[in-house]
Amino acid sequence: TMLQLSTIEELRIHIKAARQQGKKIGFVPTMGFLHEGHLSLVKAAREKCDLVVMSIFVNPLQFGPNEDFERYPRDIERDSKMAAEAGVDLLFTPSVEEMYPKPILTTVSVANVTTPLCGASRPGHFDGVSTVVLKLFSIVQPDCAFFGQKDAQQVAVVTQMVQDLSIPVEVIPCPIVREADGLAMSSRNVYLSAEERAQALVLSQSLQQASAWLKEGRPLDEIKQRIKQMIADKPLAEIDYVEILRYPELQPVENEVSGQTIIVALAVRFGKTRLIDNLIAEIR
Ligand code: PAJ
Repeated sequence: TMLQLSTIEELRIHIKAARQQGKKIGFVPTMGFLHEGHLSLVKAAREKCDLVVMSIFVNPLQFGPNEDFERYPRDIERDSKMAAEAGVDLLFTPSVEEMYPKPILTTVSVANVTTPLCGASRPGHFDGVSTVVLKLFSIVQPDCAFFGQKDAQQVAVVTQMVQDLSIPVEVIPCPIVREADGLAMSSRNVYLSAEERAQALVLSQSLQQASAWLKEGRPLDEIKQRIKQMIADKPLAEIDYVEILRYPELQPVENEVSGQTIIVALAVRFGKTRLIDNLIAEIR
């Protein structure tokens, strides 16, 4: 049976007991409104660890002033049922007051990997992510932490932070989970109108095309232009970025030498909803 805890103190008591029993602790940080993408991380954690801790915390630090913090979807009752069924042992659901009783004066800021992509379009976002993830790591002290490749740049940021600060946590990236038609699962998909939802398929479809074009050995600039054209053909879509970078460095591809690992990363707005998706592939 799952235990739901809302204070740092209570959570620490339960985790300490588990650790004293020699249990390997797996951690899945989330902002809730759970879907199969989140649950795939729980599954991976269960396979590798003895005690699975999930956090649900909509972290105000990682939202910009004009972003969707207030209206971010929340349904803790439904989440709690889903988490229990998926095999979460401890569900940590702190309030903002519990996590940040006073204004926070400390910020973790990772350079370089936070510069392009979502770092460029969401100033301060990754500082908010790295700060809360470090805080959660210090509360939970997990052996392993599970992150989805849906947020590939977030994986790069957390991995860099863990290396730089010698944090004793193994960061485990997990594959993107998609709806049957290809749309990457996201808590924000509920914002989409039926029309927007239909046109949002262009993200996964253009990445599928990109994969084929890469296999044909087409130049990266041409692939980028073709993706932009596919997206521009959808009247409700507004491109935030379409980028192809080296992965995991997230630096420009200097020369298109075959065998290099790259990321094709997209962010597209539909009305007020901003969607991201990506493909990791190799240059042919
Ligand atoms: P959230 O968006 O709730 O995502 C929690 C975790 O689920 C992240 O690791 C994310 O990459 C993963 N995830 C989301 N959609 C996925 C999908 N379709 N397939 C696979 N994994 C998916 O990411 C955050 O919350 C926050 O930034 C957080 C790390 C919790 C810090 O506040």
